[in-house]
Amino acid sequence: MKIGIDKMSFFTSDLYLPMEDLAKARNEDPNKYLIGIGQSKQAVIRNSQDSVTLAANAALKIVDDNEKEKIDLILFGTESGVDNSKSGAIYLQSLLGINSSASGVELKQACFGLTAGIQMAMGHIALHPESRVLLVGSDIARYGIGTLGEKTQGGGAVAIIMSANPHLLEIGTQSAHLTKDIMDFWRPLNRSEALVDGKYSSAEFINFFKETFENYLEKTGEEIDKFTALIFHLPYTKMGLKALRSVIEDLDNDDLKESLLEHFEESRYLNREVGNLYTGSLYLSLLSLLHARNLKAGDQIGLFSYGSGAEGEFYSAKVVEGYEKYVTDEEIAFLDQRTSVSVAEYEQIYRSFMRPQTADYRTEFENDPAPFVLKGQQQQQRIYEKVN
Ligand code: CAA
Repeated sequence: MKIGIDKMSFFTSDLYLPMEDLAKARNEDPNKYLIGIGQSKQAVIRNSQDSVTLAANAALKIVDDNEKEKIDLILFGTESGVDNSKSGAIYLQSLLGINSSASGVELKQACFGLTAGIQMAMGHIALHPESRVLLVGSDIARYGIGTLGEKTQGGGAVAIIMSANPHLLEIGTQSAHLTKDIMDFWRPLNRSEALVDGKYSSAEFINFFKETFENYLEKTGEEIDKFTALIFHLPYTKMGLKALRSVIEDLDNDDLKESLLEHFEESRYLNREVGNLYTGSLYLSLLSLLHARNLKAGDQIGLFSYGSGAEGEFYSAKVVEGYEKYVTDEEIAFLDQRTSVSVAEYEQIYRSFMRPQTADYRTEFENDPAPFVLKGQQQQQRIYEKVN
């Protein structure tokens, strides 16, 4: 039975900060951000959005009435969850009106959460071939104003429906994992901003990629030329380029090198426009690659997922015949209609983010054009509503 990705969608804020402006405000050369980091824009997440609303807004695009009846499992990958107990999947089920027979849980291992869900969904669908599984990777990447990580912030959500006989990608059954207890990036329970050892995290990313990629090749007996594209979790898009270069630099095959680099450029386009999505980043990169429509049926894509702390996985997927019909330009057109904010506006919005607190709070949801918003909290309960 073929199992894989049937539908995908993406959502982020209607506001963005041009990276050039951020660089100037931080007394840096804009090319450091644009080329050295590889980011053009950074999503600025309003205080009326959190990982639940971002996920609901992404999933709304692919969960129609038929899906609401059929989905039997909701897997919510996030590392910026809104509650230490209750899962974001339950909020999602309720906001979208998904049938109450569906089960749902939240998955956490830094940016790896959605990939963990993909493997769980594979097993679930193998046992229940009629199943349709809704997965989301939804996060807001926050490091703090003026920090080293600031230029790699961002946020948004990717939603996926997995099923048997999928329309987009058939996921392979082989994968290679690497798990090690390291402190490269973490977020203690009392903090809404991540702590990070930036250089160490970037170095470990490459080490994890090389080791899982080699293990995958060894397991499957495949060579690098089996892959039409290699794509990556993209905390910033230069990170993926560095990882790719680490395995192609010694290749004799110039055509393969050039083609992998070309597909990598296609795969980083959307990430460049948004910034880090944490759990959703690898899948935004996948969406970006599919949107370029430069693949053909049967092409094999290698996917590297990395969640700090750390867990890495390399796996593969094959492009399904006719996939082009299931990726539409309208789906990402909203990115061109976003509004640019100044550095001062970004800082004001950043500071107004609802932190863990006991007092009631009201967000500026009236200004938010998104369908689902967070209106605030009352008696320590979050209030969500579909307003648009
Ligand atoms: N023109 C072009 N390039 C320039 C330049 C210029 N004028 N000036 C500098 N550069 C280049 C540098 O040469 C460097 O390139 P290389 O990495 O290829 O050498 C690049 O710009 C970045 O420069 P720095 O290393 O000096 O940047 P920095 O120290 O200010 O910060 C960072 C970079 C460490 C990534 C920091 O932003 C950070 O800590 N980010 C958060 C952590 C992170 O994203 N880690 C990634 C792996 S962990 C992970 O994947 C999980 C996750 O999602 C967080």
